[in-house]
Amino acid sequence: MGRLDGKVAIVSGAARGQGEAEVRMFVHEGAQVVFGDVLDDRGEKVAADLGGAAVYQHLDVTQEGDWDAIAASTIDRFGRVDILINNAGILRVRMLDGHTLDDYMEVININQVGCFLGMRAVTASMKEQRSGVIINTSSTSGFVGTLGLVAYTASKFAVRGMTKVAAMELGHFGIRVNSVHPGGIATEMLNQPEFAGLDQGNAYGGQPIPRIGTPDEVAKMMVFLASDDSSFSTGSEFIIDGGYMTGPVIAGLGGD
Ligand SMILES: NC(=O)c1ccc[n+]([C@@H]2O[C@H](COP(=O)([O-])OP(=O)(O)OC[C@H]3O[C@@H](n4cnc5c(N)ncnc54)[C@H](O)[C@@H]3O)[C@@H](O)[C@H]2O)c1
Repeated sequence: MGRLDGKVAIVSGAARGQGEAEVRMFVHEGAQVVFGDVLDDRGEKVAADLGGAAVYQHLDVTQEGDWDAIAASTIDRFGRVDILINNAGILRVRMLDGHTLDDYMEVININQVGCFLGMRAVTASMKEQRSGVIINTSSTSGFVGTLGLVAYTASKFAVRGMTKVAAMELGHFGIRVNSVHPGGIATEMLNQPEFAGLDQGNAYGGQPIPRIGTPDEVAKMMVFLASDDSSFSTGSEFIIDGGYMTGPVIAGLGGD
């Protein structure tokens, strides 16, 4: 028996990376999944690979019409939406003085506005059925600043805040809303030219768990939060970062 048997989920930004891992694990756990992205070829390939157990639909999270369409087609096909994962996101490395307004707004529109539009698109049907789970993907950058990521950090703080308001508004309708905060996870998001000089082997060496995380590790937390196993958690922050946020390491102290 799967932990998500009979549940219907929508996952955004899921043609690759963490979203793709979430789709695959949700299907494995018995959910019916509709997932969207702007990378249509890759999304269709993931759906084909899953042999029809999941449905791909184009979704640009900045577009209200795309959200209305994916919510409507999920309900047409499966009768309900039980779970929404707002996963789509982008990252732009820019120092303040070299940051254009267009770059800034692109990050805010996808990471922050996209999350708002996603929550809004599923709220009415979840309220009507008096149940539902929304999981918003923030980041450790939703708690602390990250050098060179002013727009990304702003957007991920916003996602953490929006999650709490939604949890307050929707709890009485049986809808739980939580945020997930990954640290460094090995996906194509980190293939930025600015990170090219980073020694990926050492970059996470200061963490208590001194390595980068995997998309599957995040997907496992998503299964927990989407399932009834987390029935008493809402408005909460779930950190999955190898201990990155425990505190700064003082060189020379402790360890071998
Ligand atoms: N990789 C990390 O280290 C890390 C750390 C913390 C948080 N996150 C967050 O995790 C989430 C998933 O990222 P990932 O690591 O899998 O990276 P990724 O770049 O592989 O995946 C992001 C996905 O979002 C999609 N996307 C971008 N713009 C979109 C739009 N307008 N509409 C719909 N989809 C769009 C991309 O096409 C891509 O498939 C993001 O929200 C990211 O900010 C990532």
